[in-house]
Amino acid sequence: MKLLSQLKTSTFRLALLYMVVFATSVFLLLAFIYWRTAGFMTAQTDETIEAEIAGLAEQYRGRGINGLITIIRERVARDPNAKSLYLVTTDDYMKLAGNLSAWPEGTQSQRGWINFTLNESIGWTGPERLARARIFEVQGGLRLLVGRDVDDLTALKKVIEGAINWGMGITLALALLGGFMISRSTTRRIETINITSRKIMSGHLSQRIPTRGTDDDFDQLADNLNQMLDRIVYLMEGIRHVSDSIAHDLRTPLTRLRNQLENTLLSVDNDEAREQAGRAVAEADQLLATFNALLRIARLETRGNAADMKPVSLGILVSDACELYEALSEDKEQQFEQTVSEEVMIEGDRDLLFQMVSNLIDNAIKYTPERGSIRVAVYTDGDAAVFAVADSGIGIPDSEKDYVFQRFYRVGKSRSLPGNGLGLSLVSAVAEIHQGQIELSDTYPGKTPPGLTIAIRMPVYRPARRRLRTAQARLLPAADAERERPAASEHTHTA
Ligand SMILES: Nc1ncnc2c1ncn2[C@@H]1O[C@H](COP(=O)(O)OP(=O)(O)OP(=O)(O)O)[C@@H](O)[C@H]1O
Ligand SMILES: [Mg+2]
Repeated sequence: MKLLSQLKTSTFRLALLYMVVFATSVFLLLAFIYWRTAGFMTAQTDETIEAEIAGLAEQYRGRGINGLITIIRERVARDPNAKSLYLVTTDDYMKLAGNLSAWPEGTQSQRGWINFTLNESIGWTGPERLARARIFEVQGGLRLLVGRDVDDLTALKKVIEGAINWGMGITLALALLGGFMISRSTTRRIETINITSRKIMSGHLSQRIPTRGTDDDFDQLADNLNQMLDRIVYLMEGIRHVSDSIAHDLRTPLTRLRNQLENTLLSVDNDEAREQAGRAVAEADQLLATFNALLRIARLETRGNAADMKPVSLGILVSDACELYEALSEDKEQQFEQTVSEEVMIEGDRDLLFQMVSNLIDNAIKYTPERGSIRVAVYTDGDAAVFAVADSGIGIPDSEKDYVFQRFYRVGKSRSLPGNGLGLSLVSAVAEIHQGQIELSDTYPGKTPPGLTIAIRMPVYRPARRRLRTAQARLLPAADAERERPAASEHTHTA
């Protein structure tokens, strides 16, 4: 599977293209060498044969037919290995002289150059060999064949052909291997960038792409991306800082305004004016509540470690919250169910946890229509204490599940319902302090409405571990102080 995806990368395709070009060049080069070598060898043989023919022709001109036959007999006697081949016959193919016994089969009617096999049918006694010859007619009706054994030559050609085939095979294999290795090292580096990007997209904005320190193009790309991320973080912090400052700075004047309105409310007799002032006070209270929520979240995010962490029974805490919200749920005639195991303990801040749990139950009731169902559960799953709320409400589309934890973010459908979009931001901040992981899923996947299930997994409290950690804290007080200092100095306005 991994190999398959490797083959699909653009780097590998590039390497493949390179390999094809490379292999074609090698093939052309070898083919050219072969063509030149083989051509040269054939030309040499032909030249030798031509030279012999020239010699024989001279003899024939000087001494006639008998002279020709004599010289051929002499030559045959002198060349026992029979590299040169001769045959003189009458025009009806009766042998007169030569070291072949008969005319090669199928070549009787031919003229000029022929290629044939030396075998028994023409009086050859050794193993079969390849030969090349020239045939022509001599005046007076005689036929003459002059040739050479070219078997060694053909064998040599075969060796060269074999070498070319092997050469091509090895070239292809090496090119394929090289292409694969090059593309793999490139793909690996791109994959590191991809992995980091995915982590960042899933919310871990502090992740950075590792560099190799070679300052090559990949390092430069990674550096640029990292700097871009730093910049984004810086800008985001800035925006958050501004919104927190606004909330902080407007809170006092707003409180003063609200109190003045309340005083007015008490002092006027006019019923209408009193009602209007009452509504204005309620609006101001709502605004103050939003500011307070915003500041609470900001404080949690920057000073999370200042939370009052103690062993808490998550089960009892959730039961208490349920008790508080059951009435609200009853009003909507919802079916409210709780499966809470009271022994489940975690280490945390009771007040913060209560706010977190309340916000989630509140959302479930708010976003589930009348006569819907809500189930609240607390249980342990391995080392995790899990708090889960499952409702049968409108749910959150998958594309927006990542965004609902942002401040003021509300899913389109729910904008008509009261709320600011700060509840889940607070939940996320509290969960973070408790090393909690939030999982969002559809209660009824594929159905409409899908409902929503939110589960928060936090480490279970184990007394032994707590003791160990306190011991560590005592041994390492300096490290702890170090960790707290920058957080405390960053957002002083929240004090
Ligand atoms: N149980 C749920 N079912 C469906 N949608 C939900 C659920 N919980 C939250 N949401 C969606 O997520 C958005 C953000 O929730 P959040 O609790 O942060 O804000 P809110 O409930 O709108 O306002 P607030 O909690 O500040 O009063 C909601 O506006 C809603 O669209
Ligand atoms: Mg809410």
